[in-house]
Amino acid sequence: MSSRDKIQKLIDLREKARTGGGKDRMEVQHSKGKYTARERISILLDEGSFEEYDMFVTHRSHDFGLEDQHYLGDGVITGHGTIDGRVVYVYAQDFTVFGGSLSETHAAKICKIMDQAMKVGAPVIGINDSGGARIQEGVRSLAGYAEIFERNILASGVIPQISAIFGPCAGGAVYSPALTDFILMSDQTSYMFITGPRVTKTVTGETISTEALGGAQMHASRSGLAHMVSQNEEEGLLTIRKLMCYMPQNNLEDPPLTECNDPIDRLDDVLNEIIPDSTNEPYDIKDVIFTLVDNKEFFEIHRQYAMNIVVGFAKFNGMPVGLVANQPKHMAGVLDIEASRKAARFIRFCDCFNIPIVTLVDVPGFLPGSAQEHGGIILHGAKLMFAYGEATVPKITITLRKSYGGAHDVMSSKQLRGDINYAWPTAEIAVMGPKGAIEILEGKALKSIEEREEAQRFIQKKEEEYKEKFANPYEAARYGYIDDVIEPRNTRFRIIRALQTLASKKEINPPKKHTNIPL
Ligand code: HXC
Repeated sequence: MSSRDKIQKLIDLREKARTGGGKDRMEVQHSKGKYTARERISILLDEGSFEEYDMFVTHRSHDFGLEDQHYLGDGVITGHGTIDGRVVYVYAQDFTVFGGSLSETHAAKICKIMDQAMKVGAPVIGINDSGGARIQEGVRSLAGYAEIFERNILASGVIPQISAIFGPCAGGAVYSPALTDFILMSDQTSYMFITGPRVTKTVTGETISTEALGGAQMHASRSGLAHMVSQNEEEGLLTIRKLMCYMPQNNLEDPPLTECNDPIDRLDDVLNEIIPDSTNEPYDIKDVIFTLVDNKEFFEIHRQYAMNIVVGFAKFNGMPVGLVANQPKHMAGVLDIEASRKAARFIRFCDCFNIPIVTLVDVPGFLPGSAQEHGGIILHGAKLMFAYGEATVPKITITLRKSYGGAHDVMSSKQLRGDINYAWPTAEIAVMGPKGAIEILEGKALKSIEEREEAQRFIQKKEEEYKEKFANPYEAARYGYIDDVIEPRNTRFRIIRALQTLASKKEINPPKKHTNIPL
């Protein structure tokens, strides 16, 4: 064979590999409103940046007629490319080849890029669209999954790992995405469950649709497994590109700084008016967030889950931060099981990857009731406390209004190593709210008052006294628990100056194998 023929053979093989499971199966994929694996990669990465590995890999199976069916690439496209010029490793399962099912060789391809990503110190993005274990390969497929799981675990906290789910993801296959940092699901075209509707019906008698059991909306709003939902795949891939701009390449680097054209010292007069005069009246914490951050850009994580707390990424003068904020508009911003878990996981991600945390506090306390107590609010609240207390990244806390009881301690208080703690003049920092406090403190006196109106007047007077004495920021400031009481309209500037000051912060936890966070 001449050199020319050899080169032509290479070109032909590449062409063959690019057709995956064939044009017909590609058309079926398109008819479901889905892209092929290669199309997904080309949307995700900078144009022309993709370098593919293992295009010629095929499976080594000889059972169930597989010996006569070989497709170049074996159902997964792997390699690396760039997003905004920064290297990322990527794999995309190809549903047109054996339904994207995972064989021994398919798994080895994924492991290869994960290993290299760890050596290089670059994020891994996995695009999942698969019928699960390659049934014909049996335990070799299970072993392949476990090889990936172990790598997910070892890479956790070293390189960012992102999962997109654009089709089926069922059985044990769900655990690789579940071990990664963020999961994005496409609405109506993806699902994740351990056992599908058919087995569910057989075992439990319950009739439920695929979508209701494991669709994107369910995972985004109920299980909390999905951090983001996209209307379609293109939107999802562009969302992942945006997410990457807040992250460093690995745990030894800082997140990338960008130029900022939003004035750092603009005065936001609107913030001086944003807290309602009545202490129980809600407002939208997102109005505060959008006002404070660069160019009103806030990348929210878990938007539909535990809406009483808001978490996400933003920039201050081009510096990426993780924002955690109680949401008075939803359940008065109370901390419950879901909110605690949501915020704790987010804080730990930020701490792994050197992303400073800015916390906006307006929290009436922990949610009372048997559902919460029986559900383990003590354990889950402890997770949040643990995450804040363990974090060594710069931590800036602004108390806007309520900060009561245990929730005060938990929400990045000074004693949990909050570096800079500011409060607005509207802050109420106390052991509990006036109503509860007076009921306990004046219980005896109240019993002795027989007339209802007189009792009401007495309560009102005592509540006023309590508010005057405790429900303000100055009692905490007097002890140095609050570093300064600031005018709300200056908050952006004060946060930026705090971030600049803390940029060189060094804090190291005592050496240990690992912590034992209350899981
Ligand atoms: C081998 C598979 C496959 C699998 C699908 N295919 N799943 N091949 N192993 N797991 C093949 C089909 O034979 C078909 O081949 C092609 O992929 C497309 O599949 P269809 O069924 O035609 O597609 P669709 O109607 O869209 O249905 C998709 C599906 C269904 C819902 C995913 O294929 C399905 O239920 N597959 C089996 C799922 C499953 O039980 N997986 C094992 C789970 S156990 P042709 O040649 O016709 O195109 C597991 C354990 C993991 O995953 C444990 C890890 C620890």
